[in-house]
This record gives sequence, C-alpha cells and structure tokens, in this order.
Amino acid sequence: MIIAANLKTNLTRAQTLEYLKNLESCLNENSITQEVMVFPSPTSLNAHDGKIIIGTQNAYGTSSGAFTGEIGSMHLDEFGIKTILIGHSERRHILGETQEEIVNKFNFYKNLGFKIVYCVGEPLEVREAGFEYMMEYISKQYEGIDSNYESLIIAYEPVWAIGTGLTPTSEDIALLHKELKKKLPAPLLYGGSVKVNNAKEVLSIDAVDGILVGGAALNVEDFCTMCEIAQ
Ligand code: G3H
Repeated sequence: MIIAANLKTNLTRAQTLEYLKNLESCLNENSITQEVMVFPSPTSLNAHDGKIIIGTQNAYGTSSGAFTGEIGSMHLDEFGIKTILIGHSERRHILGETQEEIVNKFNFYKNLGFKIVYCVGEPLEVREAGFEYMMEYISKQYEGIDSNYESLIIAYEPVWAIGTGLTPTSEDIALLHKELKKKLPAPLLYGGSVKVNNAKEVLSIDAVDGILVGGAALNVEDFCTMCEIAQ
C-alpha cells in the first residue's frame, strides 16, 4: 500500500516541519513500514530528513531558465526531491494545464528518473454521461505518457469527490480501477474525500493500491491513523 498526503496550499514551513516530525514519530511508534509520501508546499520541500518520502506538488519541465514563478529540477535536486505529482485536477482545471504541457512535464521528469504520481479523474458531468464516455475521457488524460514507466504511480481522483465529502461507491471504485488497471500497469491509488472513517473500506477494494489524501491529511493524527489502517 502507498499512502500519500497532498497538503496543497496549506501549512506554513514551520507547521510542515512540525507536521513531519509528528508524523515520523507516529509511524515509528506504530512500526508502520509501508510507503508514506507527503507533498508539502514548495517552501517546505527541504523541511524533513526521515523515512517519509517528500514529493513536490509541481515543477516545470526544465532544470532552470526564464519561467517566472516556476521551480525546476535544479531546485528539486538541491533538496534531494525525486518524487513529483503530475496532472492533479486542480492544476488541470484551476491552473489550466493542458495535456500537452502535462505530457512534456511527465517526459522531462521521467528522463530524470523521478517517481511520478500521475493523476486522472473525471468531472461530474462526465460521470453522469455514462461509464464508456467516462473511460474515454480518462484515457485522454493519460494519452501520451509512457504507462510502462517503472516509477509510475497512477492516482484516480474523481474531480467531484475532491474536497466535497462525496465518494463513489466501493463498487464504482472497484469497477473503474479494474478497467484502468487493464490499460495502466502501475500501482493505482484512489483519491477524493478519503478520511479516517472510510479509509478502511476504500483500502479493502480490489485493485486499490493506496490512497492520496488531501483535506483529511492536514490533521497529522488522522493521517497517521490512515497509514495504520493500511498496514
Ligand atoms: O490530492 C488529493 C486529492 O485532491 C484529494 O483531496 O482528500 O481533500 O478530497 P481531498
């Protein structure tokens, strides 16, 4: 199981430092051995020296250059960061990243050997249009990436379930994950309103290899409990 926390634009550097210290202690106290990743804000990327894997929520597909407001692989190298989240729905839908930009970013970080957590997921109107249409929509979100890349992890996150408290039924997640696994031979995480009280059910679904947690991961005790549940 892979358990990941996306802290999004939350927690200051000081708070993240405290968060990671507490999480590391909790994981050690409970002898939790599975892979735990945390994606903090860019200002906290070098905030931790422990067994938790720290990844970046974003970076531009370049080492350095004239790309105002972006960070590049040079900045990640400095902090020993080798894990990146690509294709998150907030970057696709709020920041307007196109599939072409996402594929460029994927290729750049793949060539550097990064572990890539690659997100896909449909908005509500697509889900309501039917299963086949939804699979077609999702397939366009992974079009152009090398699905056989050995350090690839896929995260399926229905947009309508992110931060809303809504989740698909276990049967729906199982069906979708089974179909996606036929096309994408990589570990497959589920994300979208996972919290302490539904983590057990989600993690017990066939073809769910872990979870990507947003809001509920901001509470370190809750996130550690989810790691324990996955153990
Ligand atoms: O990256 C994480 C997801 O967007 C899930 O967020 O757990 O707040 O729904 P959420």
